Amino acid sequence: MNRVTIAKRFTSTAVKTTHAPLSAAQAAYLERVIRVDQAGELGADLIYAGQYLALSHNKKVKPVIKHMWEQEVVHRTTFNELQVQHRVRPSILTPIWKVGAFGLGFATGFMNKEAAMACTEAVETVIGSHYNQQLRVLSNNFGDIKELDTGKYTDSKEVTNLKNTIMKFRDEELEHLDTAIKNDSHNARPYWLLTETIKGIVKGAVFTAERI
Ligand SMILES: [Fe+2]
Ligand SMILES: [Fe+2]
Repeated sequence: MNRVTIAKRFTSTAVKTTHAPLSAAQAAYLERVIRVDQAGELGADLIYAGQYLALSHNKKVKPVIKHMWEQEVVHRTTFNELQVQHRVRPSILTPIWKVGAFGLGFATGFMNKEAAMACTEAVETVIGSHYNQQLRVLSNNFGDIKELDTGKYTDSKEVTNLKNTIMKFRDEELEHLDTAIKNDSHNARPYWLLTETIKGIVKGAVFTAERI
């Protein structure tokens, strides 16, 4: 797909824009953000689904996981909608993300509650900083879009809405991180190996889903 096609997509009739066309680089970046975040939230949904199933016998931790899972379902649905609106194709590795995420959630939940929480801590640490990085780029590189009605150069309603969405989700991911620590993630054994391995897996998945 060439650059013009990508730029056109973000100014297509699928979304009512109130601004002049984005540059090819801006349009390509937004497409990348939506693709990777949709894949990430799909993964998060399935990690919690796997943990919930594996820990369904644990009456104390079940509602804790359910609450976080429900928030992930909202995140996933929101990015699904953005993906359709902006006609962004999903990551071609989606089937692998699904199996991998559910497997990771189920395996850590099957180990014990502490391992599940260490998994949550690792995942949300990486995703929290991933969202912060996106917010930095969206704040720094999208201030030069011309609003059609006022002629002013701003970051456009579309980018502002996306930033607000990402900010809200980032805050909820960081709440999940706190919840994991409060629920004894640090008592998982082997804590360091488990969290560092999962962080590595998530970073690799983010890098890949941004590209394919
Ligand atoms: Fe999420
Ligand atoms: Fe989360």
